[in-house]
Amino acid sequence: MHQANLITTRREGTVLVVTVQNPPVNALSVNVRHGIIEAIKHAQNTAAITAILLTGQGKHFIAGADINEFSRSPQAPLLPEVCDCIEASKKPVLTSMSGATLGGGLEIALAAHFRVATPSATFGFPEVTLGLIPGAGGTQRAPRLIGIKSSLAMMLTGKSINAHEALSIGLIDHLNQSEDALSNGLRFIQTLVKGEINIRRRADVKISSKDLEKATLALDEARQGSKAIGTSFGATQALIEALEGSITLPRHEGMARERALFLQCLGSPERSALVHVFQSERKVMKLPSEFHGSARPINSAGVVGGGTMGASIAVCLLNGGLSVVLIEQDNDRLETGLERIRSILQHLHSRGRMSKQEHEAVLQRLQGATDYIALSTVDLVIEAVFEDIVVKKAVFERLAEVCNPKSILATNTSYLDINEISSGLSRRSDVLGLHFFSPAHIMRLMEIVVPQSTSKDVVASGFELARRLGKIAVRSAVSDGFIGNRILANYRKAAEYMMEDGASPYQIDSAVRAFGFPMGPFQISDLSGGDIGWAQRKRKAATRDYRERYVPIADRLCEAGWFGQKTGRGYYRYTDGKRIGEPDEDVLLLIENVRREKGIKPRSFTDEEIIRRYLAAMINEAANVVDQGVAERPLDIDITMIHGYAFPRYRGGPMKYADDYGLDKLLADIREFALEDAYFWQPSNLLQERVTTSGLFEDLNN
Ligand code: 3HC
Ligand code: NAI
Repeated sequence: MHQANLITTRREGTVLVVTVQNPPVNALSVNVRHGIIEAIKHAQNTAAITAILLTGQGKHFIAGADINEFSRSPQAPLLPEVCDCIEASKKPVLTSMSGATLGGGLEIALAAHFRVATPSATFGFPEVTLGLIPGAGGTQRAPRLIGIKSSLAMMLTGKSINAHEALSIGLIDHLNQSEDALSNGLRFIQTLVKGEINIRRRADVKISSKDLEKATLALDEARQGSKAIGTSFGATQALIEALEGSITLPRHEGMARERALFLQCLGSPERSALVHVFQSERKVMKLPSEFHGSARPINSAGVVGGGTMGASIAVCLLNGGLSVVLIEQDNDRLETGLERIRSILQHLHSRGRMSKQEHEAVLQRLQGATDYIALSTVDLVIEAVFEDIVVKKAVFERLAEVCNPKSILATNTSYLDINEISSGLSRRSDVLGLHFFSPAHIMRLMEIVVPQSTSKDVVASGFELARRLGKIAVRSAVSDGFIGNRILANYRKAAEYMMEDGASPYQIDSAVRAFGFPMGPFQISDLSGGDIGWAQRKRKAATRDYRERYVPIADRLCEAGWFGQKTGRGYYRYTDGKRIGEPDEDVLLLIENVRREKGIKPRSFTDEEIIRRYLAAMINEAANVVDQGVAERPLDIDITMIHGYAFPRYRGGPMKYADDYGLDKLLADIREFALEDAYFWQPSNLLQERVTTSGLFEDLNN
């Protein structure tokens, strides 16, 4: 056996078996690239070798380029060279694939002369989700194998296809029955050894004029729709251009165009932001080693309260394979809650997101009760009753009495102090916050709120549960609104101040959308219902700091009964049950009245200034949240805001955005705004410290 760094080679008769061994996902790091080239060259120079089988050790064949290398200067040999070397081999090269074959991994497979796969194998070009395009001939070889239409479909969405689809579009030559990639490959390669099939190189394939016409049409269509697809607009455009090269240019020029566009994307801020998000999504889910292995088993759960949140949390748990008991105050409310759950499940089933068997099995695992005794054997309880400390405390006292001593007691509170909810309980170490976002069965974010008294195994169990439910979990300490809602409260205020000072809610929403959020703050308010915030403001009125500027516009809307979509009017007017509202003159009049009462002379704002203020308020409070240890690192903020509040992913989250924008510039903005309102615009200590030391938020992530 010959060991070349992360590649092993061995002989099986006249076949050279080349195995990539670069755990966890066989990424194409420089030593892997080097090892593959060495192995191919070795085969060319060894007369006894008649064919080469390339395969991967472990779960996946190859998950693409090594993402960690993107921010360093590239080291030779580069991937295009590896692919060219494979394609040019005089001896047939077969790739036998299992698990994921992604990005550069799929480009290697396309450069090989033949491809076989196991039944569970998947294939994809996820580059666009990282702000990139395939950069090792993928945009030139794929159209010559599967055509432009399938190439576009795979590359523009970044979504993987399964082995059956891959066979049907001609991406693989053969689909095996067994999951053993090595023996599948060895079996298939015998046909090549015997010379029954000739070598087929993608480079030799010419696109016919008929195909050319169809391909041009498909590209035009993609160009027209390209704004709506992909997570990175720059990469989407580059992708279409590179694919076009495969039909309009001689091959070597097409390759050169692809390379130039790839390098352009590699250097873009979108790429850097998207890779930051990819890596941060994995980092947030990792707990320090002292937590490892201590999670308690969770197979059954209770949900207390079958309202909006309780019902959708129950759906999450059921979908995650748990059995669920729903608890409500009385039989009528219980039936309403169960019906809410059943109707979400029915909807998922009718949309094809759940098979008939899964639907039936899930319903079997659902029960309801009005007596808390039904919770005596469950492993976990999630409380989702009214946002009222008295009601929540009473529920937890009852839970502490009836639940078994190993069970975990969680609350889904949005704002309340979990230390207070659990005060007086004998088992405070079992209590934590599991803050889901609405609708819980769709939103991926979950804040795991950890009071100081919570034991490590309970925290570890929260993260294990998140993994099982397919959620992205972020750890938060107890704080008013935890990470996300606390930051939201601050940038919402900035939006309201701008509205009172002269910008219309419609201009603010539009500027925020142009930045990349799907909705502006006033549209969101109309969607979630103004009454919730109104009640919260009334509760807090007595304790509000006298220095805080208060904008009464939202209260005036509520006093008029305009709660948003559900009442047909809010900041917008919703006619005929439409979900997209129209600007409302009456609302503008109401705002003008408030300005007049307060003696505010309205001024104009540019969209650019709106965004500067909106984001400065967001980032400044986020810096406080990190500084006070509520969020562990800046990256926890980025993931919270992307997955819970729709911050545009391609901008990397507010802290990454702040680093790119310039922290000194941001601090100067805040100081400028503070000239008008020094109480609201107090620069965060952490932001000031970063500027003084010329550091970045990024430096605090590791
Ligand atoms: N490079 C480096 N590390 C990678 C990686 C890659 N391409 N893909 C995954 N990893 C790392 C992850 O960061 C994680 O590291 P950690 O253990 O330190 O957190 C570890 O591998 C396991 O990853 P997951 O937790 O995501 O494991 P899963 O089993 O859930 O998923 C996967 C496996 C489907 C392969 C998933 O990791 C994935 O989608 N990876 C990204 C693949 C990708 O985008 N490839 C394209 C790269 S761009 C390219 O190839 C350009 C080329 O055209 C030139
Ligand atoms: P909701 O008003 O829709 O539902 C509350 C349910 O709890 C009602 O069905 C009520 O009958 C039931 N209930 C009240 N007291 C009970 C008791 N003692 N025993 C059993 N059931 C009881 O409220 P919603 O919106 O579902 O909120 C629930 C919790 O989730 C609140 O703490 C809220 O702050 C939090 N939350 C809400 C989000 C949202 O967007 N609605 C998002 C995240 C958290």
